[in-house]
Amino acid sequence: MNIVLFGPPGAGKGTQAKLICEKYFLNHLSTGDLLRKESSKETSLGMQIKKTINDGKLVSNETTIELIKQFINENKNNKKGFLFDGFPRNKKQAELLDHLMESINEKILCVILLNVNEDVLKERIMNRSATEGRSDDNLETLSKRLHTYSSETEPLIEYYSSQNLVRKVHGTGEISDINQGISSYIEASLNA
Ligand code: C5P
Ligand code: MG
Repeated sequence: MNIVLFGPPGAGKGTQAKLICEKYFLNHLSTGDLLRKESSKETSLGMQIKKTINDGKLVSNETTIELIKQFINENKNNKKGFLFDGFPRNKKQAELLDHLMESINEKILCVILLNVNEDVLKERIMNRSATEGRSDDNLETLSKRLHTYSSETEPLIEYYSSQNLVRKVHGTGEISDINQGISSYIEASLNA
């Protein structure tokens, strides 16, 4: 089973992804983590990725998709499937994911959309900046990331709605309550 976890920066995708992966025995595919790992290398690609992340923009589809394919190939026989956290981020990536799934005889069970308003996102990112030290967790980059989200990523809600895959969850409140909301959608999709 494969799930897409969708939402703006600070929505809680990473937090919920970990819980969902443990509960349903899934591989956690965090594109942000894969890109950050790559960006820490002192290669020209690494430096380029770092610059893009700090600009709040999207890394080229070619680079991102290569990392995704590699991760899927290395993990496709592990666990019960994949949880995509932070991918796809634009239409091209969504289409590629559809093809990738098809090529391994899989499909997307549902797309969980974590809804959180902008004030809360800002507050969370600023809190996280103190603990995780991510170079893109500052107000300036955040506003660019939010812009990238609304212009390139949010249109995917329409793409997945037309396939009847989107399940909306309120992303504020207790982590365990949010997790419960996500789990009930997953179970409903499994039993559909
Ligand atoms: O998902 P996360 O917030 O960790 O992503 C951090 C950054 O990584 C994004 O703001 C973006 O610059 C980059 N990214 C990307 N393409 C993706 C996922 C993340 O360019 N599919
Ligand atoms: Mg994340």
